[in-house]
Amino acid sequence: MDFTRQLLLWYQKNKRDLPWRNTTNPYYIWLSEIILQQTRIEQGLPYYLSFTENFPTLKDLATANEDDVLKLWQGLGYYSRARNLHFTAKTIYFDLNNTFPDNYNNIIKLKGIGPYTAAAIASFAYKEPVAVVDGNVFRVLSRFFGIHDDIAIGKNRTVFQNLANELISKKHPDLFNHAIMDFGATVCVPANPKCGQCILNQNCYAFLKNKVNQLPVKNKK
Ligand code: ADE
Ligand code: SF4
Repeated sequence: MDFTRQLLLWYQKNKRDLPWRNTTNPYYIWLSEIILQQTRIEQGLPYYLSFTENFPTLKDLATANEDDVLKLWQGLGYYSRARNLHFTAKTIYFDLNNTFPDNYNNIIKLKGIGPYTAAAIASFAYKEPVAVVDGNVFRVLSRFFGIHDDIAIGKNRTVFQNLANELISKKHPDLFNHAIMDFGATVCVPANPKCGQCILNQNCYAFLKNKVNQLPVKNKK
């Protein structure tokens, strides 16, 4: 698939070196994804480093006091993330024999883990070809493929999830997911995307039809 090949080529040259990208440890990947859920990379990075330093293994987190976990989380907000993190660490350690679930369907059963986080963990830790889908992915795919389904309608998520799962590199699902995240965050951005310098512009529906500002479709309710 051309989209996939081009995206991976772009990522090779433009990848951001982030600590959670140099590991296949599902515990570290999970930690990073929970921290980054409502938090920018620059803000989340020091928290990631302090969590991995203070709780280097899942056992350390599972057996910690809730107060110590929440104290380390201080300043990040959305404290339910930290409480779910601790709860799920205990679940994995005490109920699942300290074994992190190793596939999407079992990962998504864990408290505090939705489709995006489950896909991130499954692809980054286990190379399962399941695509991350968030605002970045809605935007990139809707523009490139000319998808007009309203992203404000919850069930339309499957349209994007199915397409992304078809597009994902079966050989490098982890790199594909990193690539589409970064591409949406730095090139195909919401306002004034860098279409002039975009490696996908020759095949991009929105660029060719001059509809970049109309996609993705998001109707206010
Ligand atoms: N935002 C959510 N997950 C991320 C990741 N793995 N790398 C960079 N930004 C992210
Ligand atoms: Fe996004 Fe523009 Fe590239 Fe199309 S050409 S994928 S709209 S940045």
